[in-house]
Amino acid sequence: MTSSVRKPFKIVGAGVSLPDKVLTNADLEKMVNTSDEWIVERTGIRERRIVESDVATSDLAAGALAQACGDAGLSVRDLDTIIVATSTPDTVFPSTACWTQRKLGIKGAAAFDVSAGCTGWMYALELGVALLMAGTSRRVGVCGAEVMSRVIDWTDRSTCVLFGDGAGATIIEKGDGSTGILASNWGADGNLAPILYQPAGGTQKPATAETVAAREHAVYMEGNAVFRHAVRAMSRAASLALDDAGLGPDAVDLLIPHQANIRIMEATRQRCGVSSDRLFGIVDRYGNMSAASVPVALHHARRDGRLADGSALAVTAFGTGLTWAGSVIRM
Ligand code: ACO
Repeated sequence: MTSSVRKPFKIVGAGVSLPDKVLTNADLEKMVNTSDEWIVERTGIRERRIVESDVATSDLAAGALAQACGDAGLSVRDLDTIIVATSTPDTVFPSTACWTQRKLGIKGAAAFDVSAGCTGWMYALELGVALLMAGTSRRVGVCGAEVMSRVIDWTDRSTCVLFGDGAGATIIEKGDGSTGILASNWGADGNLAPILYQPAGGTQKPATAETVAAREHAVYMEGNAVFRHAVRAMSRAASLALDDAGLGPDAVDLLIPHQANIRIMEATRQRCGVSSDRLFGIVDRYGNMSAASVPVALHHARRDGRLADGSALAVTAFGTGLTWAGSVIRM
């Protein structure tokens, strides 16, 4: 434990909100021309959670933040900042964080969204920690929340098998300096925006009857290209963070990569040189929940006793943009 904490913060609570409804691979076999065998072999996903028709992203975010505050022994009124990372906002404006605040029945705390795709929670954490260090905030709710099922073309077997809905939230405070980020990096390459995006619904291509008929409000993805960039970006971000922290792969107690696909996660682990027993995954149960994947995994790891005090957690993610981030966190 030689590395010093450069960006101090403490996780005081964590929570999730996961829909009850389970969509299994067997269910998908009845919807599109696919098979449980293909999905498990190519992605590691066995089932995912899907919201009911009256649930929006802010409902999940509010649920996760409330649970995380409860875990911390706090009221949601104790938050002075709410950051929601999402690519599936309730509305283009205002932010999902503001809708979340309304659903929590509170007001006053600063509330805004972060749009960085599946890297969103990591971008939001970096911002939240910076706010704590600057003295701007004392207690931040950092949430990743997605209703991916609303932006899926349920007739497209190449994408509809991959995603799930959910939210995860983490409450952070400055702490005493013994815990926090040892090293981190983040980045983006906007030139790669066209390989993974939602073509219509924004100012580039506003919604029309034609865009709806052409299913242009659903995820467009060049799967193979995304796969290659994902492995490269996540392993590089994690390795840079480890180098910067002065830690070798053996010093990593747990690696939580973005939960997109078990093959991407496994390839990332191998490139980082972390042993297989240290890889933490929940993708089999929940699919790719975009910005919610990492905080939901973090919650499960914490709950399962995989993140003891003092342990070194490596987190890495990539997302639409393309964006990426890697951090080493002393718990
Ligand atoms: N069931 C059965 N067959 C399928 C399915 C399906 N659900 N989907 C595609 N296929 C078929 C294809 O049509 C193709 O058939 P063909 O050879 O007759 O043309 C064949 O399977 C192989 O298709 P590939 O796309 O080459 O399959 P690949 O092994 O690359 O796996 C996958 C596809 C799983 C999408 C992979 O490319 C992948 O995981 N990519 C990254 C996806 C991802 O993580 N995206 C991130 C989303 S957002 C984010 O996290 C930032």
